[in-house]
Amino acid sequence: MNSEKVVINDVGPRDGLQNQPKILSVAQRQQLIDSLAAAALPAIEVGAFVSPKAVPAMANTDEVFHGLENPDVLYSALIPNLRGYQAAEAAGIPLTSLVIAASNTMNEQNIRMTTEQSLLVCLDVLKQAEQDNRRVQAYVATAWACPFEGQTNPEEVIRLTAKLLDGGASGIVIADTIGAANPKQVKTLMTTLVSEFGSAPFACHFHDTRAMGLANAFAAVESGIRKFDASIAGLGGCPFAPGASGNVATEDLVMMLEQMGFKTGVHMQALLAASDLAIQLTGTAKGGKAKNWIENYYHAQASA
Ligand code: COA
Ligand code: ZN
Repeated sequence: MNSEKVVINDVGPRDGLQNQPKILSVAQRQQLIDSLAAAALPAIEVGAFVSPKAVPAMANTDEVFHGLENPDVLYSALIPNLRGYQAAEAAGIPLTSLVIAASNTMNEQNIRMTTEQSLLVCLDVLKQAEQDNRRVQAYVATAWACPFEGQTNPEEVIRLTAKLLDGGASGIVIADTIGAANPKQVKTLMTTLVSEFGSAPFACHFHDTRAMGLANAFAAVESGIRKFDASIAGLGGCPFAPGASGNVATEDLVMMLEQMGFKTGVHMQALLAASDLAIQLTGTAKGGKAKNWIENYYHAQASA
């Protein structure tokens, strides 16, 4: 057994809630984030500084952030442009995440820019962040497949990664936005990226549309990746990417990694309570696929 650390960033309060039919209040969003922090998640994405017309569920992310209980968590927020960066910086968000897709149509649909326009915006934000001494990472979305253009050219992912790292991005999250990758493709792309840039900058973000989320996470682990996004209770999806379902559930990913001997630092009992809360608040989240088994296992342990 190894006891290497794996860092999990819960994106439920952003990727999860942005796509829900029900818009949660600031207090409910804080309640969900606080429950994740109570489960000792080391990192949580708390929201997005995007147009509230484009994504109404992410309005008032600054207010959400200001009321949070646990200051030790690495809180982050998504930003699409310089305006988002400035708003996140003013709110004091410690880590912001740019988003750029490896497909031109996806960029046009999601952030109303071509890939080249978005890349210029990203590099501008990174330059500003360097002056401000702020940490900014970048998501490379639709890294394996795009709902509009089909299969993604891996060369485009490599090109964007190189430009963003060169521009000063503190990390790169490689995202399977619609959950269309298979483990073989994940291993191929992540191995290539790691051999070119090392494993340190990378995290992976998998959706579970085709029930390959955990298998894809395993393929990424095998490629040397030790940072993952996941979403409590499997919440998630992108309103601008048709066919995307929820992210791989945090409880399932923690279970798999811990059983493989990795240390996530997450308290499973408290995580199950956060999953219950996510289900209760949204009315749509299903909970991780292994949730019943995990509940029974911890119940049996507690009464042993
Ligand atoms: N935060 C809040 N408001 C913003 C903003 C930001 N970061 N950037 C722009 N806006 C506002 C503008 O002020 C404008 O407001 P108005 O209509 O009241 O004047 C409106 O949004 C449109 O601005 P414009 O510059 O014309 O942008 P656009 O219509 O081309 O939209 C984005 C571009 C990026 C702002 C918009 O597409 C967006 O927010 N996308 C987010 C997508 C997302 O979150 N996807 C899911 C996660 S991957
Ligand atoms: Zn996502």
